[in-house]
Amino acid sequence: MPSNIVVGTQWGDEGKGKIIDIISSRADVVVRSQGGNNAGHTVVNNGEVYKLHLIPSGILYKDTLCLIGAGVVLDPKDFIGELDSLEARGVSTKNLKIDPRAHVVMPWHIALDGLSEAFRGGKDIGTTKRGIGPTYMDKYERCGIRVYDLVHPDVLAEKVQSTGKLKNKIITEVYGGEAFDLDAVTAEYTEYGKRLLPYVDDVSVLTFDAYKAGKTIMFEGAQATLLDIDFGTYPYVTSSHPLSAGVCVGTGVGPKVITNVIGVAKAYTTRVGKGPFPTELNDEIGNQIREVGGEFGTTTGRPRRTGWFDAVIVRHSVRVNGLDSLAINKLDTLANLDTLKVCVAYKKPDGSVTENFPATLEELEGCTPVYEEFPGFTEDISACRSFDELPENCKKYIARLEELVGCHVSMVGVGPDRAQIIER
Ligand code: GDP
Ligand code: IMO
Ligand code: MG
Repeated sequence: MPSNIVVGTQWGDEGKGKIIDIISSRADVVVRSQGGNNAGHTVVNNGEVYKLHLIPSGILYKDTLCLIGAGVVLDPKDFIGELDSLEARGVSTKNLKIDPRAHVVMPWHIALDGLSEAFRGGKDIGTTKRGIGPTYMDKYERCGIRVYDLVHPDVLAEKVQSTGKLKNKIITEVYGGEAFDLDAVTAEYTEYGKRLLPYVDDVSVLTFDAYKAGKTIMFEGAQATLLDIDFGTYPYVTSSHPLSAGVCVGTGVGPKVITNVIGVAKAYTTRVGKGPFPTELNDEIGNQIREVGGEFGTTTGRPRRTGWFDAVIVRHSVRVNGLDSLAINKLDTLANLDTLKVCVAYKKPDGSVTENFPATLEELEGCTPVYEEFPGFTEDISACRSFDELPENCKKYIARLEELVGCHVSMVGVGPDRAQIIER
């Protein structure tokens, strides 16, 4: 049975939640393998809106097994809040499991995220301030607290004391911040551990067992390719590997388990947070896209920066993720623009042209987009359910994007609802 990976191909918020939800209707298992509650995935079902941060989008299907893998960083307080709000809306969380190896976001990680961002001054990354970077730092420093520790009070108490002392020293002496009361942290997080205990299980084993039993598995990507710690716009990236390859290490399964990789893009580009954005529109068209598309962050509410579709970026994503197909969302948002532009290449400062996304910010600096123009469309396409129903100009636009990025477009989103999708 197929194992699909769904990954973001731009800077996040491509509508992965919607695509994952649609595919989850045919999946037995949905797995998150990286990131944390910096993600915000929206699912709309008959006007009912769900915003998921840590819990896999498959949770809305009552029989789907939902797994949070070892590569995720988990904020237990936020996680419990999400559990409660889903349960309050009648969504069962009984089929949810968390790997004991996943690292726990502690309160000092959140504090340090804010303090280090403030210290960077104008050179801040524009993080979600959810403590993601500092938690991954501790993981790789080998001093992190894991879900196993959280649900074992003695281990937790010891680790909070040993790690907490060092964190307090850094917070107070380096940043002039306020120290945490470690006994209070132990007491608070011990309670969270009690609540999490029934959910803890080995996700690597559960995923492999499902694979061997011929179940359909969906790996839910968070963040996106251009936010990847190595293949994104470093240092304006997140601290994990949102690439398809990240799924294997983040879940604990081998690459042969994967049969299909689906990339998700918007019909234009957005970005929250700082960093380069070659096709950014700081004008009326950019405002129109933001307003019509409702481009405000799902997690932080920040207005998203908007710009034209950048085929250089998506081509890069096709390569580094090994995409089999592409879902293009929010085509409906581009209605009523006279002309649509697509960046097909970058012109470098020396006048040469490249079709490959530069490896460093230094090389990207000074590059200007080379645009191809397309006539726009005025029709309301939100009720279209087949490719043939789309206006000619939409069809031409999508066909050219396919050519430019070198990947088949298998789905086109024409509205936020799970029904508003064209499958080809
Ligand atoms: P994710 O992080 O990739 O899951 O995306 P977000 O949920 O953060 O942001 C995508 C936004 O676009 C959400 O508000 C979705 O409901 C909405 N959306 C998804 N697909 C479409 C589409 O095809 N058309 C429109 N108009 N909105 C969409
Ligand atoms: P989904 O899964 C968009 C961005 C932040 C910031 C950078 C680093 O909803 O697509 P972090 O808090 O991760 O250290 O912030 O990454 N970022 C996202 N942008 N969508 C996301 O997730 C994001 N997760 C992180 O805005 O620029
Ligand atoms: Mg999002």
